[in-house]
Amino acid sequence: MIDFTLNGRACRLPSPAPGTSVLEVLRTSLGQDGTKEGCASGDCGACTIALQGPGHNMSTANACLMPAHQLAGCDLITVEGLASASQTPTLSAVQQALVSTHASQCGFCTPGIAMSLAVLHVRHQRQIDQGEVIDARQRDTMIDHALGGNLCRCTGYRPIREAAHRLLQGEFGPASLQDAGDSTAEAHDTAPDDEPDTGRFYRPVTLQALLALRTEHPDAALIAGGTDLMLEHTQRLRDFPALIDTTQVAALGKIEEGEHAGQAGWWIGAAVSYHQLMPLLREHYPDGAELLTRLGSEQIRHRGTLGGNIGNASPIGDMPPLLIALDAYIQLMSQDNERILKLEDYFLDYKRTQLMPDEIIHSVFLPRPLPNQRLAVHKLSKRRDDDISTLLGVFAWRRDASGRAQHWRVAFGGMAGVPARAPHLEVLLTLQALESLTPARLTAQTRQQIEQAVQADFSPLSDVRGSREYRLLAASHLIPRVAQRILNERQPTTSLTPLESLDAYLAQS
Ligand SMILES: Cc1cc2nc3c(=O)[nH]c(=O)nc-3n(C[C@H](O)[C@H](O)[C@H](O)COP(=O)(O)OP(=O)(O)OC[C@H]3O[C@@H](n4cnc5c(N)ncnc54)[C@H](O)[C@@H]3O)c2cc1C
Ligand code: FES
Ligand code: FES
Repeated sequence: MIDFTLNGRACRLPSPAPGTSVLEVLRTSLGQDGTKEGCASGDCGACTIALQGPGHNMSTANACLMPAHQLAGCDLITVEGLASASQTPTLSAVQQALVSTHASQCGFCTPGIAMSLAVLHVRHQRQIDQGEVIDARQRDTMIDHALGGNLCRCTGYRPIREAAHRLLQGEFGPASLQDAGDSTAEAHDTAPDDEPDTGRFYRPVTLQALLALRTEHPDAALIAGGTDLMLEHTQRLRDFPALIDTTQVAALGKIEEGEHAGQAGWWIGAAVSYHQLMPLLREHYPDGAELLTRLGSEQIRHRGTLGGNIGNASPIGDMPPLLIALDAYIQLMSQDNERILKLEDYFLDYKRTQLMPDEIIHSVFLPRPLPNQRLAVHKLSKRRDDDISTLLGVFAWRRDASGRAQHWRVAFGGMAGVPARAPHLEVLLTLQALESLTPARLTAQTRQQIEQAVQADFSPLSDVRGSREYRLLAASHLIPRVAQRILNERQPTTSLTPLESLDAYLAQS
């Protein structure tokens, strides 16, 4: 049985098959069909729900990618719960805002948009209650992020954004979602129950139990946020005989200061979500935090985890190139063994890694920034929001006493079957005078040297996201941008911050 609350009411659901999504149970077993299915792949946001539960504050999620078993102990709020949360039979503030601005036409996207805005409204209110001052520009960014995972094909975003602005300005009253504060619900080790034998969903709460399950069931897939694995079910119609959930194991959900290989840094548990990771990156690696805002959508960032991003071994995952450039390590663990590898040595070949069948990814060690260390991150994708990288280039360097950029570590995703370093580019950047690499000074000969270095480092494939030729050229074109950035930092010639001056989307607006 799965026990949770649905729009404030206690709900008990017979255990479905392990891969059954929240969306499936809402629309079938629970008869709550306000939540829509548009794509079943996390892209459209029509299925957006709000959750509060063990380990997370009020947040949005894509119901199509969340296994129903992970509802256990959660407070689930769907679009049906918006109006009923208020005492009087009137529309909630969010609904009033959407109606007043004519922000809906066919209405298919509207339940998802209403949920994204309702959660935004609650969070915005909490921040204000905590004394934060949020200016118009910050509000605009919050709205962009909140709506980045919701597509509308007929209304257009202007009225939807207007609804959001007026909502946050308080025109329709206070946030009306049931705001129970941080959940204090406790997790319990759940034994599989005796219901129809549709497979097993294991939710261990101790590391020992997780490692034992991994040994006993080597064929069962590990699942964390499900934002990648669940696509196997929704797109490829794969049934999972068994799943092992990592998200209830406290040791995997923590970020702890520590040391490794003589460096201070942080051990980040594999089940830490992007949302949890954001404050650390914002403080210590702002360019890394900027990348996170481009990783999926809010719905994905609330649920997706670092371990899942490395565990899926995708050559276009966003975290590995960042972590490799920052010289991160990965800790693997089984019942009998524990080992720590450089992350750059973990990936062997396309979707092949050092992970043994009885092992899990326990955590990642991220070193603290070194003195005078800088970072530049370039994600190229067809859309700014909610889109996987075509390629991702991450450049880390340190400035020596004379201000020269040295000690380069450059890593790319999307340029090979695995995320990898670019040793020839690192040498070129070390030896070449930076001025000669800037767009204004670049000669045909230097351009050719850059292209040769990229080709010596990578032999990318063509796929739907970009051809081999595009990838090689685009990677080469990043070098003059990075060189220009470093020179801008030495002699600022523009009023834009370095992040802004490199953001193609901002520069166009
Ligand atoms: C709409 C959409 C947009 C996306 N955008 C991006 C993007 O911009 N950039 C990007 O990089 N990714 C993106 N993704 C992919 C995905 O969200 C991320 O890779 C995410 O980090 C996966 O984490 P998860 O916890 O959801 O993984 P899950 O789906 O739970 O698991 C993914 C894989 O990792 C394995 N795994 C999980 N935990 C462990 C562990 N502790 N040890 C070993 N193996 C483990 C699982 O067995 C599975 O094979 C997107 C996905 C969607 C649906
Ligand atoms: S149905 Fe499109 S994101 Fe879930
Ligand atoms: S109102 Fe039709 S898709 Fe948004």
